[in-house]
Amino acid sequence: MIKKGIILSGGMGTRMSPLTKAVNKQLLPIHDKPLIFYPLSILMLAKIKDILIIVNKGQLDQYKKLLPNGKNLGIKITYAEQSKPRGLPDAFIVGEKFIKKNNVALILGDNFFYGQNLSKTLIDSSKLNNGAKIILHKVSKPEMYGVAKIDKNNKPVKLIEKPKRYVSDLAVTGLYFFDKNVVKYAKNLKPSSRGEIEIIDLILKYKKIKKLKAEILGRGSAWLDTGSIEDFYKTSAFVSAIENRQGFKIACLEEISLTNKWIGKKEITNAIRFYGNCGYSNYLKKLT
Ligand code: G1P
Repeated sequence: MIKKGIILSGGMGTRMSPLTKAVNKQLLPIHDKPLIFYPLSILMLAKIKDILIIVNKGQLDQYKKLLPNGKNLGIKITYAEQSKPRGLPDAFIVGEKFIKKNNVALILGDNFFYGQNLSKTLIDSSKLNNGAKIILHKVSKPEMYGVAKIDKNNKPVKLIEKPKRYVSDLAVTGLYFFDKNVVKYAKNLKPSSRGEIEIIDLILKYKKIKKLKAEILGRGSAWLDTGSIEDFYKTSAFVSAIENRQGFKIACLEEISLTNKWIGKKEITNAIRFYGNCGYSNYLKKLT
């Protein structure tokens, strides 16, 4: 079982400067809520309640104003600071004390997932006892991501980071499930040519010992990018279109907690007071 999750919410967001000069990218809006709400909602949908958010040095106060300690959501949020980005697997080194001897999920702070069967996939994936599981999604530009080639049983047979030549169009999304050995493996990784330790190398360790599984998110799901300002607007438009059309919210944290029975109506009322007079609060009012 996976009961702990990490959100890697650091990074300099240089591609989005000057927006990211004073504010962390994951605090910028995707439609009506900060980007960080979306990956956090994914961990909560996986029924993970013990969450570590890794942020850049100096940005802790910004986060704590928005997401204090998780009590208001019936979960536990702790923070760790990362002095500089050293590659994605660094999350497991920074998070060693948090992980202890537990299995752990990792989601990148800028990854957006949406889809009908998503909750089921998340809950199934969080049942992992040993080995690792990656989540794949078909993309039109595989050269921008880590990609996986799979055999007919969905087993990854090849994994390459940003392949120059076509290998597969299945991208390795920024949501990963690992067993407790992940800290040990992360510590043994050597930096790649771009000077960072790579998540693909970590995943390859599990493939080598034949303990790597993959799940493919079907075409009814969306996995969107928030890497550049254009992607930000596209993702915002997607959320806005669905929310306006259907009248429910994507990544309303309080609603997920209420559905999971982690909080009651009292916490919803407190949340309305906390957010103040806004559309998000109006939505919460409907839940009380
Ligand atoms: C990182 C990973 C890549 C993965 C992607 C998902 O890429 O290295 O394997 O497909 O996240 O968002 P980066 O965003 O660092 O280029």
